[in-house]
Amino acid sequence: NGEHRCAFVIFGASGDLAARKLLPALFELHLRGALHPETALVGFSRRDWSDDTFRERARAALQEHAPKSFDEAAWAELAPRLSFVSGGYDDAEAYQKLKEHLQNLGQDNRLFYTSTPPSTYAPIAERLGEAGMARSAGWVRLIVEKPFGHDLRSARMLNETLLKHFREEQIYRMDHYLAKETAQNIAALRFANALFEPTWNSQYVDHIQVTMAEPMGMEGRGGFYDEVGVIRDVIQNHLLQLVALTATEPPARYDAKSVRDEKVKVFQAMACSNPQHAVIGQYRGDGRVKGYREEEGVDPRSRQGTYAALELRIDNWRWAGVPFFVRSGKRLRAKSSEIVIVYKRPPHIPFELRAPVQHDRIVLRLQPNEGISLRFNAKKPGQGISLSRASMDFYYDKEFRSRNPDAYETLLEDAMMGDATLFMRADEVEAQWRVVTPLLEAWEASYDEPAFYDVGSWGPDEANDLLAKRGRTWHTPAVE
Ligand code: BG6
Repeated sequence: NGEHRCAFVIFGASGDLAARKLLPALFELHLRGALHPETALVGFSRRDWSDDTFRERARAALQEHAPKSFDEAAWAELAPRLSFVSGGYDDAEAYQKLKEHLQNLGQDNRLFYTSTPPSTYAPIAERLGEAGMARSAGWVRLIVEKPFGHDLRSARMLNETLLKHFREEQIYRMDHYLAKETAQNIAALRFANALFEPTWNSQYVDHIQVTMAEPMGMEGRGGFYDEVGVIRDVIQNHLLQLVALTATEPPARYDAKSVRDEKVKVFQAMACSNPQHAVIGQYRGDGRVKGYREEEGVDPRSRQGTYAALELRIDNWRWAGVPFFVRSGKRLRAKSSEIVIVYKRPPHIPFELRAPVQHDRIVLRLQPNEGISLRFNAKKPGQGISLSRASMDFYYDKEFRSRNPDAYETLLEDAMMGDATLFMRADEVEAQWRVVTPLLEAWEASYDEPAFYDVGSWGPDEANDLLAKRGRTWHTPAVE
């Protein structure tokens, strides 16, 4: 299929994201025949690299970050298709050089990727537009990495700048959580089965929890993170998207317009219940592991949140009265991203029990141990009725032999195919900022210290209080 053949231009090709994610993803696509044999990979950055230097660096990146997939013969096929253009992201002349380079490659279809600092997204789009590169005889698409803006105002300004040069259909805004197999499976579970959807509403669901926990600290990103914090880094995007996928109405068709129309409706109905009650936490060191304030690039008095727990509500017919509790943090006990649907208790229990029955739960595990578990009450063997917890578990790796593609692989392939379903639309990103703005404002206007938590814990005690006040408790993620 000639449609997805293109010149794939990576702005920031010498950077960390290109090495860790983009090049390995493109190599995987090449290995499984999903990269068109004529697709050219063009690196662009301020480094004064030659084509050969870029090839050597790319090879080293693949060996380091995708050692299991690296294959000499496949690399020998791909390497000649790499080339490099050196220049500043704001330098009009460099874009003329790039334009000539692309003309010489003879590729009219062009995909540009901003794997660069966020401050360069607008200038890149403008310089491309001014150089006449937002249009060509083929298709032109622009993938914009996160973070998309710093707040609602800057996100709007960025949208305006992009839309001055590109049409909305040409813009692919990244949120790699949308492309995780398990995130996509939320739609399959809900809309390809008759069993779940009838109870997926306020009549049966008590509340919903979304957790994204990470054991890592700053890993060299302290300077960036201290400007951003957990709300902008992952809540505004990844966690709100997971909430939206869980809460959306069934779209009539699974295509970019219908799916995103439905998600936008969810964001418009969504609000942070009590911005002042949200818990903003920060990890403290324990002598062995550095605390956040000791991390390189972080202000030693920083109030920045590395953890947040909050309650969202969705004021629509389906979800009125059902709290959505969301939390995320760095340096927590383990890597775990999951969505837990906690059901209400049955209206009447005919058994004489010593303790109240526990709530049924559906646990959607995004990582690790990707899968779905249904937790319910079952009769313990023996005389009379007493209950015990039972579980029905579906694990991706047991059920399917094929490996789960990395989210970046899926997204790059989708963008080359022109499918924007798993990318964010302009109105969607702005609506997401609207949800977190009161939270950011409440925190930034206060002088409170963050709630400190120990490295390796599940977060500050205040986060438990947040749920306790609402008569609930956090689901403890299963740890490997
Ligand atoms: C990124 C955040 O978007 O997602 C990082 O900027 C975070 O802080 C990462 O670590 C987590 O992604 P994943 O796919 O490893 O869960």
